[in-house]
Amino acid sequence: MRVPDWPIHTETSLDYLRQVLESPQWGGFHPMVGEFEERFARYQQCAHGIAMMNGTVTLETALQAADIGCGDEVIVPSISFVSTATSVSRVGATPVFVDIEPYSFNMDPASVQQALSPKTKAMIIVHFGGPFADMDRLLAIAEARGLTVIEDAAHAHGSEWRGRRAGTLGHAASFSFQNSKVLTAGEGGMVTLNDPQYAGRIRSIANQGRLPGHSFFAHFELGSNLRISALQVAVLMAQLDQLDAQIEQRTRNAALLLDALKDVPGIHWQDVPEAVNRNCWYLVLGRVDAQALGASRDAFCQALGHEGIPVTPFYPHALFQNPLYQQIPCRVMDAPNALACVKDAFWMPHRVLLGDDATTLQIADAIQRAVARARTAHPVMA
Ligand SMILES: Cc1ncc(COP(=O)(O)O)c(C=O)c1O
Repeated sequence: MRVPDWPIHTETSLDYLRQVLESPQWGGFHPMVGEFEERFARYQQCAHGIAMMNGTVTLETALQAADIGCGDEVIVPSISFVSTATSVSRVGATPVFVDIEPYSFNMDPASVQQALSPKTKAMIIVHFGGPFADMDRLLAIAEARGLTVIEDAAHAHGSEWRGRRAGTLGHAASFSFQNSKVLTAGEGGMVTLNDPQYAGRIRSIANQGRLPGHSFFAHFELGSNLRISALQVAVLMAQLDQLDAQIEQRTRNAALLLDALKDVPGIHWQDVPEAVNRNCWYLVLGRVDAQALGASRDAFCQALGHEGIPVTPFYPHALFQNPLYQQIPCRVMDAPNALACVKDAFWMPHRVLLGDDATTLQIADAIQRAVARARTAHPVMA
């Protein structure tokens, strides 16, 4: 059994790359960058797309362009990659960490409601692993309070909530094209959104505070050079050609894999709300009930490793437990689900879903063997 590799490239990437390499412009001003921004924005059902160096600066810029800064609070989930929180700190605002729901791994609207304060200005909603957070309830809270909503869609390219894609629900969505993501150039990011004024402000900040129609050497606000390079975009153009087919393949294989594993007791796979009519399947997430499985999460993950199945035993701590947030301002809500997931959750990367049917069934067999091996090596008594 061979788990498919990621990333994968086709000859088309070489064609796009050659176009850039044979031009005099390898940087962010190559016309292919604008073409890709338009293509990916349209893919996300948005009017505007601003590509940048990565999916961290996209979050920072989306916050800065919404005038979020000192004295403001921004609600973020306790479980995410660190950028979701550091983007808030880096614009001078205070992250307020809320709990996640137990099995969707996404922000819990009840915890968000409790976290609101007169200083709350925005929320960053992560669509963890691919499926959307509960947008009906979260958007209702945001609308009632006039909050800015930024979707951290680093995991959710092409996913849909009632037919709508990230960037059309919140005020803006931030994407990452880092190496593990379902659309990748090794590094890269983009903000997609519909509001032309907000989009113009984001573009200006990402491009040294320049404004269209003015001198290249006139700068109108404090920006930076956050531009993506055309070489990254050449790779992304080819990746985007493959994305829909890969999402379909992962969706088919996820159904096959989870069906083959349905009789394994003690693994609760990620809950996907019915309103998520399309999931890009960035991660295959689960939680281990050690008593029911007969083995601990760590023993299971170790055994998966022995079987050649790539796995990560979740984040080692909730975001607010990072040494960083012992030193800089933040506010922390009770987060029992986040803390429980740190102890019992795991994820497999999306490449486990990129094989043919036979490979997927072999992966399911390997996971079953891992359960048996974990039970023998480190049994958990009922
Ligand atoms: C949820 C989330 N947000 C933001 C980022 C940051 O993206 P990048 O690595 O492109 O800076 C990541 C990256 O893994 C992520 O998982």
